[in-house]
Amino acid sequence: MAVKTTPEYIDLLNRAVSREIQVSIQYMLQHAKMEKLMRKSIPENILLDKTTYEAVGKFLKDIAITEMKHAADIMERIYYLGGQATTKSDKVTVGNSLSEFAKNGAKAEEEALELYREIIRASRQVEDRTTRQMFQKIYREEEEHLFKFQEYVNFQDEPEEAEAEPVSEWRQIFTQDYFDLLNKAVSAEISSIIQYTNQHEKASYLPLRVKNTALEAVAETNKAKVISDLLKTVFMAEMDHLEKISERIYLLEGEATYLPAPLPQVGETADDFVRLDREAENYALVLYRKIIEEARKRGDSKTRRMFEEIVDQEEDHYWMFDDYLK
Ligand SMILES: [Fe+2]
Ligand SMILES: [Fe+2]
Ligand SMILES: [Fe+2]
Ligand SMILES: [Fe+2]
Repeated sequence: MAVKTTPEYIDLLNRAVSREIQVSIQYMLQHAKMEKLMRKSIPENILLDKTTYEAVGKFLKDIAITEMKHAADIMERIYYLGGQATTKSDKVTVGNSLSEFAKNGAKAEEEALELYREIIRASRQVEDRTTRQMFQKIYREEEEHLFKFQEYVNFQDEPEEAEAEPVSEWRQIFTQDYFDLLNKAVSAEISSIIQYTNQHEKASYLPLRVKNTALEAVAETNKAKVISDLLKTVFMAEMDHLEKISERIYLLEGEATYLPAPLPQVGETADDFVRLDREAENYALVLYRKIIEEARKRGDSKTRRMFEEIVDQEEDHYWMFDDYLK
């Protein structure tokens, strides 16, 4: 029989999930913010063919995706062990400069290493070899992240100008209530990223893995598995949306949120998944239509065009989930 786990053990693994979700969002937002920081650093970088953004911003995006992959792997393991994987994130701390990103990142990685040492010890105790090996691999990657962040903790960022320039007339359209509206989109994207990742892995949960018909057995698949595969591609699209929308907010000198809303909902069956996912896409469609209207009213055509593109993809997602509900 497979390893016997306790609720405390599953809780411990879920602490790792929350941490991985946190850093994934944190690094993605930092990546998005780099675009704005890059503009500030152009005067000194104009002679270089490579900007700080290209060197470091790219790295942040890469590890943001690695961290979500870690979250997914740990969730999958929890479901195989018969537990329920969490959708909760630990607190995200972004920062305002490359050195702050690096300090916050180094801190997060150090805390992860400490927690994963604890998990590796606990997994040895219950003789859960698979979990132990998985965390040993993740541990090595977190250590690499830590070393990478450490290289930038003393980075000399451009100091913020003491006195802000008077805001040009056209920028008066970017008011706080507008940023609040755009941030609802950020929250919706974060929520669907977590929801789809969790559901994708929940296909490994025994009640969803069982094959009930000859066809399922021969095809070595079932509805949960088919939907799980689908969710993987949708998840990547939502990551891309999160990146684009938060980048736009930062460029306009706003602050992006890191809180998911509405809260991710996983469900118990394959039918639950598609119903909840269609609802999530519906929420995005309604919200993004409102944002497009608002952007048009304000004359913010860049944001409008961006959301028009995103809304096309959300509609495709909507119909894709809708297909499975008939
Ligand atoms: Fe990680
Ligand atoms: Fe990491
Ligand atoms: Fe999206
Ligand atoms: Fe979507």
